[in-house]
Amino acid sequence: MSATNTNLPDLLARRIPGHALEQPFYTSPEIFQQDLEHIFYREWLFAIPACQLVKAGSYATLRVGAYNIVIVKGRDGEIRAFHNSCRHRGSIVCKQREGQVAKLVCPYHQWTYDLDGKLIWANSMGPDFDPTQHGLRGVALRDLNGLVYICLSDNPPDFEAFARQARPYLAVHDLSQAKVAHTSTTIEKANWKLVWENNRECYHCSANHPALCRSFPLDPEVAGVSPDGSISARLQAHFDACDAAGAPAQFLLSEDGQYRLARMPLQETAISFTMDGKPAVAKPLGCVAKSDAGSLLVFHYPSTWNHFLPDHSLTFRITPISPTETELTTTWLVHKDAVEGVDYDLQRLTEVWLATNDEDREIVETNQEGILSPAYIPGPYSPDWESGVIQFIDWYAEWMERSLAPSRLAAE
Ligand code: FES
Ligand SMILES: [Fe+2]
Repeated sequence: MSATNTNLPDLLARRIPGHALEQPFYTSPEIFQQDLEHIFYREWLFAIPACQLVKAGSYATLRVGAYNIVIVKGRDGEIRAFHNSCRHRGSIVCKQREGQVAKLVCPYHQWTYDLDGKLIWANSMGPDFDPTQHGLRGVALRDLNGLVYICLSDNPPDFEAFARQARPYLAVHDLSQAKVAHTSTTIEKANWKLVWENNRECYHCSANHPALCRSFPLDPEVAGVSPDGSISARLQAHFDACDAAGAPAQFLLSEDGQYRLARMPLQETAISFTMDGKPAVAKPLGCVAKSDAGSLLVFHYPSTWNHFLPDHSLTFRITPISPTETELTTTWLVHKDAVEGVDYDLQRLTEVWLATNDEDREIVETNQEGILSPAYIPGPYSPDWESGVIQFIDWYAEWMERSLAPSRLAAE
């Protein structure tokens, strides 16, 4: 076995199911580029919660691989996404992570775009210059119940199948009434797949997450997926009780494995992700009447996992930066009328996941470091505790095999 083989079809073909991937999947610039081109540049990606853009002219930027995107709220209330590259000579137009503007003005020669991307001012461009041909390039965008997804492809895949299934689960959390209470961004020095692998299991939780384990159950069924699709009677009873209380809960895994929805129970007496398990926010976001409904867990590969609780919601976005760097952005959402210091204490709201994210950063970075050793050999995943990781890796491998197949056939 050669650790320097970076031929993706070969590596996928010799993959041992139920085992971690070989080193190049986590280190190779060539495979990272293929991950971008076959997954991140083609698929729908979670970008921001819509409420982050509070009024006309509010914008947020994000980087996905080589792309830079700006998402901006128009005066008509519509949220739009554009490539953040000026149509003059290509400069970045909006340099900050987020901001508030009347117009989008390029810092280089001040070409000025309206909030809908149209070019409205460009100095001394001559009589033949046609501004209508030089608007910002649009990026496909969907607003799923207050969650903004974008797609970099000119031919975006279907989004509606996921949206149709997700809407009833999300509706009770009413993100139209949300505001951002806090955002944290960290760069994890690890391949994006290691960030996901770590997220998809709680095998590591008891030894690494003292704060999270006060509310999150050490139950492999909560983080994972059973290989035969079976659900324990205890979990099924929880789903049914939530459903009966008006909070959709049933376990739903898409056929291709790209997304999952399920309202999972927390520790017996816990209601929210706090040190004492009690709610973090007195004025709840949404209308989940059953206080012990737990957390609606939603993941959508390759960009997001989320927790929707009876009192607040959390979005997590991962974007790949390099073969060994991934950005994780976490956003805490509360009811827009909840007042900090009155209805919630920011430290109490954020402390569990700030600590958990930092613990996770440390373990995935340590994981990456060990994988960089030439002595690394992929080991087996625990069938009980790491079924979610097996599911993720199977999804990744099958996705790449499918995606590579047409070009391989054409090359033969
Ligand atoms: S590059 Fe934007 S105005 Fe010149
Ligand atoms: Fe973790």
